[in-house]
Amino acid sequence: MAPRIPLPPLGRGQPERTVAVLDVGTSKVSALIALIGGDGAPRVIGSGQKPCLGLKRGTVTDVDKAEMAIRGAIDQAERAAGTQIESVLTSFAAGNLASSMASAEIDISGASITPTDMVTLRQAGRAAIDPRGRTVVHALPALYTMDGLPGVESPLGMHADRLGIDIHVVTADTPAIMNFTRAVAQSHLGISGLVASPLAASMAVLDEEERDIGVALIDIGAGMTSIAVHRFGIAVGVATVPMGSADITDDIAAAFATRRSIAERLKTFDGAAVATTRDQTDPVIIPPASEDGGAEPVKIARAQLVGVIRTRLDMLFGEIARALSSLGFVGPQARRIVLTGGGSDLRSIADFAGTYLGCNVRIGRPRGLNGLPAAQEGTAFATLAGLVLFAAGDQGDVWHQPATAQPSAPRRGLGGVIEKLWGSL
Ligand SMILES: Nc1ncnc2c1ncn2[C@@H]1O[C@H](COP(=O)(O)OP(=O)(O)OP(=O)(O)O)[C@@H](O)[C@H]1O
Ligand SMILES: [Mg+2]
Repeated sequence: MAPRIPLPPLGRGQPERTVAVLDVGTSKVSALIALIGGDGAPRVIGSGQKPCLGLKRGTVTDVDKAEMAIRGAIDQAERAAGTQIESVLTSFAAGNLASSMASAEIDISGASITPTDMVTLRQAGRAAIDPRGRTVVHALPALYTMDGLPGVESPLGMHADRLGIDIHVVTADTPAIMNFTRAVAQSHLGISGLVASPLAASMAVLDEEERDIGVALIDIGAGMTSIAVHRFGIAVGVATVPMGSADITDDIAAAFATRRSIAERLKTFDGAAVATTRDQTDPVIIPPASEDGGAEPVKIARAQLVGVIRTRLDMLFGEIARALSSLGFVGPQARRIVLTGGGSDLRSIADFAGTYLGCNVRIGRPRGLNGLPAAQEGTAFATLAGLVLFAAGDQGDVWHQPATAQPSAPRRGLGGVIEKLWGSL
């Protein structure tokens, strides 16, 4: 049986410090300022949110509009917290996020493994990463091996001929990252780090046992759906699907020749993912698209609305199923799904997803923070809340953090590359 994997340490016992986090989504930009490192859970001291028009499918397409929304959200959070911030930890879901594994091994010649060996190993692991022209977003140690034996939790002090490390590497297209960082820089903010959105959301909505047994987090945003697969307590793969809940809105607007704002209300108030027998007769009123008073409202059966929603959900979940399968999320240990993101607020979407993917599905709301404002307790803020938890933990990133003689606690797992990690036991 796989060892039970703890969540990354939350930095307790360290002096309290202030962090600022930013989630730049396709529909809204949101920010939190929080205190971390004290005795309890991170405490939110300021928050802000602005609608965002400068992004398409998580990618910055209008730097000025994105900058305005970022500045607005940060200003609000700064005012509420009564402090000024200089840099933010920010989520990133664009640039075709993709996972790979890098492995390295060093010679120990039967001696006992020292902290210096661990530093050498991390350096060798870093050198083994080939980003192939893309930008490395994360390089997270997944597991250690001793003489080829996987699943070693803490090699320090043990004897081995060879010590190995496997690293989960997440990369993204460099131009997408550059445009994104430009929009943040234009808002006069530094970036203390980028976090792949689904990894941030995972921190806020998944529990330890789910991550241990095997779970896929699916964040359905407005323009993007992002996925993170976990097993043995560690993230083993991320992927994105360039489709989201705003596509449902657009489909409704097109199908019933109405405005986006009306289609949005139809989706959120009258829509559902699964039709009921009453939907055949239950009427839904579509107000006229123009406001000149000439046109009449149109009456449709709710089943027609659900039909339009279902057509798009079939497309979206078809893509999700393909992504899950390419991440190796198959078999008896791949039965749990947690849906989050604003798109998961669609009525009966968990039932639909459960049937479509043949899995147990629950909706995940952010938790683990004190003082999160009620307005940001919903699924749309899972990534935002997760960023604070990400900042509070030590991820042991070998690409972005310098190697020290005191390596962070290993992230245990069994197997080797993603396939080994996912499918070996
Ligand atoms: N009750 C609801 N039913 C259906 N969809 C909803 C509901 N509430 C919100 N949504 C949808 O959720 C989407 C916004 O979700 P979210 O805030 O997670 O996206 P985002 O982070 O801005 O975008 P992305 O992550 O794609 O860049 C919108 O398309 C909105 O219509
Ligand atoms: Mg989002």
